[in-house]
Amino acid sequence: MTRLGVVLSGRGSNFLAIADQIRQGNLPAEIAVVISNRPDAPGLAAARERGLATVSLPSKGVDREEYDQRLAATLKEHQVEWVILAGYMRILSAGFIREFPQRILNIHPSLLPAFAGLDAQHQAFDYGVKITGCTVHFVDEQLDNGPIVLQAAVAVEDSDTPEALSARILREEHRIYSEALRTLLTKPWRIDNRRVVLGQ
Ligand code: GAR
Repeated sequence: MTRLGVVLSGRGSNFLAIADQIRQGNLPAEIAVVISNRPDAPGLAAARERGLATVSLPSKGVDREEYDQRLAATLKEHQVEWVILAGYMRILSAGFIREFPQRILNIHPSLLPAFAGLDAQHQAFDYGVKITGCTVHFVDEQLDNGPIVLQAAVAVEDSDTPEALSARILREEHRIYSEALRTLLTKPWRIDNRRVVLGQ
């Protein structure tokens, strides 16, 4: 079983969706540890309730390089093979990314490269796009930038509110994060320039 390390900052619904898929036997992986930079993150409490190993690693006041070294060390202590960012609201340093080459995934609530950064659903709503969605991508040193594994489109309705739109995007996030991970864990793939391509 592939050992996943989940890193989150908040609610943790994407983490729970992945945990459910593992529980139902749809994802050949196990969650080795759930780590949060925010001690009060609801996602961390949910992981504890499920009996998973959890680590609270507060980031407040800690230098980024030093924080990322602690984070990498904690993941390695738990023999993590894939790092799953699930609502982790910090940029990772180059040093951290080098520790897990091609093994860090993120989910972002827009069709990248549109609307990188914070509050992507509101950004899309305010811009007035008719289609937005979500993206599972590899993490590199730039914000919301790495090779794309899977995307799902969500139509913006005239009667939408940012909240209603966010809820529909979140449903797609929960579906495609596990699906992307399942593909990467069970099929041959390679990264060709920045295209993630299935097959040898
Ligand atoms: C999700 O919508 C995720 O796509 C977003 O934060 C939310 C976390 O929700 N991530 C980003 O914006 C990363 N740039 P969750 O804690 O319920 O999974």
